[in-house]
Amino acid sequence: CGIIGVLANERPAAPILVDALRRLEYRGYDSAGVAAVDAGRLDRRRALGKLAALADLLGQSPLPGSSGIGHTRWATHGRPSEANAHPHRSGPVCVVHNGIIENYRELKSELAREGASFESDTDTEVVATLCASMLRRGLEPEDAAAATIARLRGAYALCFLFEGAPDLLICARRGSPLVIGFGEGETYVGSDAIALGPLTDRICYLEEGDWAVVTRQGVRIHAADGARAERPVQRIAPDSIVADKGQHQHFMAKEIHEQPMVVARAFGAWTSNDRSRIASPAETIDWRSVPRLTIVACGTAHLAGHVAKIWLERIARLPVEIEIASEFRYREPPLPTGGVTLVISQSGETADTLGALRYARAAGQTTLGLVNVTTSTIAREADLALATHAGPEIGVASTKAFTAQLMGLAAFSVMVARERGAIDADGERDAIETLSRVPRLMAETIAQEDRFAALAREIATATSALFLGRGLMYPIALEGALKLKEITYIHAEGYAAGEIKHGPIALVDEATPVIALLPSGDLLEKSLSNIREVAARKGRVAVIGDAEARAELGDEAWRSVAMPRCDPLIQPFAYAVAIQLLAYHAAVARGTDVDQPRNLAKSVTVE
Ligand code: G6P
Repeated sequence: CGIIGVLANERPAAPILVDALRRLEYRGYDSAGVAAVDAGRLDRRRALGKLAALADLLGQSPLPGSSGIGHTRWATHGRPSEANAHPHRSGPVCVVHNGIIENYRELKSELAREGASFESDTDTEVVATLCASMLRRGLEPEDAAAATIARLRGAYALCFLFEGAPDLLICARRGSPLVIGFGEGETYVGSDAIALGPLTDRICYLEEGDWAVVTRQGVRIHAADGARAERPVQRIAPDSIVADKGQHQHFMAKEIHEQPMVVARAFGAWTSNDRSRIASPAETIDWRSVPRLTIVACGTAHLAGHVAKIWLERIARLPVEIEIASEFRYREPPLPTGGVTLVISQSGETADTLGALRYARAAGQTTLGLVNVTTSTIAREADLALATHAGPEIGVASTKAFTAQLMGLAAFSVMVARERGAIDADGERDAIETLSRVPRLMAETIAQEDRFAALAREIATATSALFLGRGLMYPIALEGALKLKEITYIHAEGYAAGEIKHGPIALVDEATPVIALLPSGDLLEKSLSNIREVAARKGRVAVIGDAEARAELGDEAWRSVAMPRCDPLIQPFAYAVAIQLLAYHAAVARGTDVDQPRNLAKSVTVE
């Protein structure tokens, strides 16, 4: 899941590699390893579990040499184990890899026929073995790697290290990002800019299909067709690469608390200086003639899209379809002529979302990508890239990227409404004024943290929980259940409150907390009826709502936490914070690994 490569200037590579892997920990992983070349000799160390285990191993059994590669693995082919951890080695070659090699079975049987044996279940070992077989045929490392890459199908970011070649790394990118960094007499390779953080601020991104010959003196990049390619070297702003928890115990806590500032920044970026108008590159589209918007995303980004669907339908009267990317891309749905497709992705690298974007482009749609990482593949491939401005998000469970997506999508909805003539200039100004209140609203919700923590401690002992909401609160209920599952491992489901009587009410008992999101507004009466159905069956209803709902339910509620009252348009921001704080404190109470929950990865570049 995380890749690092280092050609260091007369200093040992291993500590630099482990340090960089630590910065990549946020992406989620289950094993880690490093390899280095010392006096021409290639060696490696790998360990199951956290990086501390690898660091211990390196303490007992150091790995000398100033050239090396490292990897944190999130299992795809083969369970998490030391044997399946990267780097994979075959004779004089070590390889680290992100992605999936689709034709690995075919290559594996071909190599087995030549007499090769394998010690892991991974697709990556096949890459190392193929490259070693090319070397045996007399090819130089560079040519052997190029010939290997040419045989691979699927998605990969790869970095090769060779015995006897202490001044060489070969790396390749297809479907999974890779950056090269330039230092003083040193050169680096990383799966993202954060990996290279303190090493250098001068980086260049490989393009799709590129492969590169990396030495201490410089880098030679080849495009997919083999021709030499120039890729611009960029300076990365230091604040986009710092990853520091500040005074918080976890990145997730820091990122929750940052949200008022983050949404204020996003709001500023989406509005004109005099706050009278939403400004967006997407206003160049003729929205009046757009028959339908299709939104596609995965996970939390998908739920932001779900909120946006409701806003766009309500404010802009624009028909919207919302889809999970992994379903959308393979169903090959017909898309309307003149339609627009919006993909939403924090990382901008999620393989399924990228696949959906490519499908929509090929189907003739105008494509928009709303991303947090503006240098990402989705940002580059979409017709128009829109930024969420959340800054780097380190916690695997998304928080500030979600609410920054919401701010972007709210502003986007108002812009589309204006362009379609659904609101006039006054309506736009009013909506902007309402959005300007979001940072304060979120800060007021965060101020209730102790109350949420107290409720969370009670929820932490449950084995199952339900989240209920209607309208805009339905996707927030889904996100509440997702957050709780992700970081506490408590089974949770989100439901539209009106749907509970059609099945899930059977789950209601005295042990299952039912978290009801109940802001005041048109749907409150309806939601209250649904909640009373639960309470009447001895359900433990925890109300998160403003004074109105809490007064209505009184003793029927098992617990309740007060929320600030606000305009319905911006309720999702406040209630998102509420469910984040609940999940976070429940996870702390259960003692789970909040920032790197088991089995999850931050950026999923496999299908
Ligand atoms: C992973 C993460 C989720 C995230 C999803 C989509 O599964 O664990 O938190 O919502 O990918 O990621 P993206 O980068 O496309 O927003």
